[in-house]
Amino acid sequence: MAAMTDFSIHPMTAALGAEIRNIDLREPCDADTVAALRVAWLDNLVLIFRDQDIGEDDQVRFAEYFGETVGARSKDRTDGGDRRLMLISNIRENGEPIGLLPDGELMFHSDSVFLEKPLMGAMLYAEEIPSTGGNTMFANMYDAYDALPDALKDRLNGLRAVNVFDYETQVRTGRFDRSKAPHATHPAVRTHPETGRKALYVNRLMTEEFVGIAPDDSDALLSEALSHAENPDHIYEHVWQVGDLVMWDNRCTQHARRDFPGAERRLLRRVGLEGDRPY
Ligand code: SIN
Repeated sequence: MAAMTDFSIHPMTAALGAEIRNIDLREPCDADTVAALRVAWLDNLVLIFRDQDIGEDDQVRFAEYFGETVGARSKDRTDGGDRRLMLISNIRENGEPIGLLPDGELMFHSDSVFLEKPLMGAMLYAEEIPSTGGNTMFANMYDAYDALPDALKDRLNGLRAVNVFDYETQVRTGRFDRSKAPHATHPAVRTHPETGRKALYVNRLMTEEFVGIAPDDSDALLSEALSHAENPDHIYEHVWQVGDLVMWDNRCTQHARRDFPGAERRLLRRVGLEGDRPY
């Protein structure tokens, strides 16, 4: 059993992200360890565990320490694997990707913000990674909110935004067809239910418009808000190694993926954590 005194916390950037060292996730964690990891997660937003040689059961057990888990919600795994985990992969069998979000770049987003109750968090485990590219960037939305000019804060507070997503589209160039794509309306600034802090809650991939604002004004406001959300000062970029487990707080971060060579295999396993309705 992993005991609390065993692990140490090493911040990755001033903005967010910390590596947790000296913990073996094949071992069950005791209650003190879980409580200390949760504090580290809330403080650092993204936790990184390197060199983990864990199976699917280990990953699910670890995720269950933090909440109710969510697996392959939108699509069955075509490899017939455990639905408690969702695959993110460009590997194809019979021409079909075995997982979701297969190829190349993925714009900034928070997971499942197109649902009434978006994920609280999620964890990805790297099984196969390309020799170059495919880094995942995480952005701190507390910092993004705190850095907004007061006039922009005043405009965004109290506004609601429509979030839409079509799983076939990873780099969005236009509007989604809402008759086909799931969508949900959420506050443009949300309050984190555990820390009480405010976080900017609009993203480039899924947020389409503000409610009750003329389309041109909404587009201009969104573009201004997104430039703050994606400010490099608020970003930690994770360069994957096989055996990394990365766990993020989806309520106060958003993430994006860099392009990578299509001919090289990339396979990550994701377990989500069920969330609340944002307020
Ligand atoms: C995701 O958005 O959940 C996937 C991120 C990645 O593939 O790096």
